[in-house]
Amino acid sequence: MHGRRFILAGSTALLMVAASGSLQAADGAKLYEAHCVACHQPDGNGAEGLAPPLAGVLTKRAQSTSGREYLAQVLVSGMIGTITSRGVKYNGNMPAATLSDEELVAVMGHVLATFNGVSQPLPVELFIAARGKALAPSAVRQLRERVLAEVGE
Ligand code: HEC
Repeated sequence: MHGRRFILAGSTALLMVAASGSLQAADGAKLYEAHCVACHQPDGNGAEGLAPPLAGVLTKRAQSTSGREYLAQVLVSGMIGTITSRGVKYNGNMPAATLSDEELVAVMGHVLATFNGVSQPLPVELFIAARGKALAPSAVRQLRERVLAEVGE
């Protein structure tokens, strides 16, 4: 009895992992094309005077707890105010993404895997928690400062 229940729960979990994996692969790149590419560019290198790079600069943040929270919050809340990335100043306005939590998992998973070599997507719980906090875009910029001071770029 116990054994069978365990096997059933296990295969359900596997199916869920498989489903979320294919969603990320199928939709992440498309979502990036539709919602991010105009500013962050096809290669994720951004453009001076427009938007900072996403390529090669997010690895450390993707691998720390506070960094992951920050990345989820940027997408949910947007960000405003001057930032420095790879020594270049940007003073733009990152709009809050108008995507579902699942789409945010997929698009950020694409950004991390394709541009930063991080295969682990941010879990959906982080986006739900970020919506709960609902930080103002200017507060997200301050969060970025704190996180970078802690984990580095
Ligand atoms: C209208 C242009 C625009 C669009 C569209 C846009 N961004 Fe941004 N993004 C920016 C700007 C500008 C900043 C920096 C904001 C600042 O200077 O405070 C930024 C910052 C970021 C950051 C933080 C980078 C860092 O170094 O901390 C991430 C992550 C990010 N964007 C991801 C995305 C993703 C993913 C999408 C698509 C869902 C997207 N952006 C869509 C303009 C944009």
